[in-house]
Amino acid sequence: MADVRSAGAAGPAPTQEIQEGRALFRGRIVPLAEANVSIATHALNYGTGCFEGIRAYWNEEQQQLFVLKLRDHYRRFLSSCSLVRIECRYTLDELCDITLELLRQNNLREDTYIRPIAFKASQVIKVTLEGLRDEVAVFCAPMGNYVSVSGLSVQVSAWQRISDNAVPSRSKTTGSYVNTALAVDQAKRDGYDDAILLNRDGHVAEASGANLFVVRGGKLVTPAVTEDILEGITRQAVRTLAARLGLEVVERTIDRTELYVCDEAFLVGTGAQVAPIVSVDRRPVGDGKVGPIVQSLQEAYFRAVRGDDPECLEWLDTVY
Ligand SMILES: Cc1ncc(COP(=O)(O)O)c(C=O)c1O
Repeated sequence: MADVRSAGAAGPAPTQEIQEGRALFRGRIVPLAEANVSIATHALNYGTGCFEGIRAYWNEEQQQLFVLKLRDHYRRFLSSCSLVRIECRYTLDELCDITLELLRQNNLREDTYIRPIAFKASQVIKVTLEGLRDEVAVFCAPMGNYVSVSGLSVQVSAWQRISDNAVPSRSKTTGSYVNTALAVDQAKRDGYDDAILLNRDGHVAEASGANLFVVRGGKLVTPAVTEDILEGITRQAVRTLAARLGLEVVERTIDRTELYVCDEAFLVGTGAQVAPIVSVDRRPVGDGKVGPIVQSLQEAYFRAVRGDDPECLEWLDTVY
């Protein structure tokens, strides 16, 4: 059997510049090179936008591109829009249909990342969310793994996860991703792969761009949605897979030192997929190897997202 730990998405790194393809911009699908905004755009100056990150997986055997949890992503997109007072001109159904059409027009037949963004487009100085023109755009590009899926070394960050009373943590607000960038860059400079951020109470919130599970006493434990986390879609998907494997999932506060004594730990997210953690702050998680529970979940996840699990086909929309 293939080593699924080296599997996941195939394609360019997330650091690769995106310069080609077609994008939805101002109500039309146009070449990406024509989808440009002014430097006076409010969202560029103040981070007043919100976005989604969606993956589509290519199945070579079936010659099909499967979009993962499309409606769930757009449901969260509309809720992010509402939290930062952006009026999205499209309905949920329209967003899904446009995205499938965009993927077709780009003729993508490989693993792909889709980026919808809604933003304050007015060219004004005033810091406000009211009375401004809103725009919605979508672009997409081939993309492989966002982080390694074969064992991450992570750091508990000195940067605190944004608090819901500062910037809504359950909204994917563009400006709040400075928090992510500060934490992940610090981790990289210190020789780690990624960062885990604590919340305002000093409890484990999530990783820089992914939710987190630990395994303790055979149970999966993950922070509740009130811990300043993004309410992750993969987190829900993994809960479904865990239930199928007969694993109990508990939502509760997680202390920092539980990261040092847990049996297994892993990240889950659209970008991260299911990514095992093998050490935290240089302390091995369990025996320092990828654990059996995360390995089973990862295998199940990769089968499901690529359309190879009949029980999870409802997660997927087909492009062709
Ligand atoms: C900060 C943050 N947390 C968690 C996640 C995981 O969410 P999802 O599984 O919906 O992609 C993401 C990725 O979108 C994220 O950016």
